[in-house]
Amino acid sequence: MSNLHVFSDNKSFVNGSAEFIAECAARALDERGRFTIALSGGGTPRPIYARLADAEFQQRIDWTRTHIFFGDERCVPPDDTRSNYRMARETLFDHAPIPSENIYRIRGEDDPALAALMYEQEIQRLFRASSPPAFDLILLGMGENGHTASLFPGTAALREKTRWVVPQYVEVMQTWRVTFTAPLINAARQVAFLAEGAGKAQMLWNVLKGPYQPDVLPSQLIQPTRGELHWLVDAAAAEKVNAQ
Ligand code: 6PG
Repeated sequence: MSNLHVFSDNKSFVNGSAEFIAECAARALDERGRFTIALSGGGTPRPIYARLADAEFQQRIDWTRTHIFFGDERCVPPDDTRSNYRMARETLFDHAPIPSENIYRIRGEDDPALAALMYEQEIQRLFRASSPPAFDLILLGMGENGHTASLFPGTAALREKTRWVVPQYVEVMQTWRVTFTAPLINAARQVAFLAEGAGKAQMLWNVLKGPYQPDVLPSQLIQPTRGELHWLVDAAAAEKVNAQ
């Protein structure tokens, strides 16, 4: 069962998403003494991460007990304009008191297979887990082709059942990526898609209301085993889903 949160405009979408994240953090810190989150990349989260760096939100999260991962990364150096890490650093890490040892970067500059293996081992070390660990919150975007993280239509990563993090060459993007797999994402306590703008309206309908075809619509793979699935969207993205 997924929870659809529709925000009337961009400002309330950004505020509402930051509020959702802060509430997840407070709950995790209260219940378990730490907050583990995986960030999504792309453009949608930029203002949300910047909002978390504002004093109002920054003071609500205990960054010393917050561990920040990435759900995927482009295989580029960390200072490359395409890097999801760079985007998060520019919007959040450079503006909040987050201990550097609490930020777990996917080494996009390394060989993709090695970077994926090293990242999976880092997750195992932090969670001391042998089966997919439960992140408190995994943020995801949804591409206009239905991909999420770097789980793109027709790729082998969609069918990964045991690995938590894999490398994937994405033909349509002519680039390598490193991505969380569906088994790891679906182990999370909370998964929240962030989608905004009219450009996502049809795909949101396809994913939520259309036939189940995860090889074409990888976002449909995301069905948390025990956790909660949330969609945080603005009215423009929700237009078609709300129409029926
Ligand atoms: C990435 C993201 C990717 C993104 C979607 C949506 O590395 O690009 O993880 O899954 O979330 O493509 O991107 P926008 O937010 O830019 O629409």
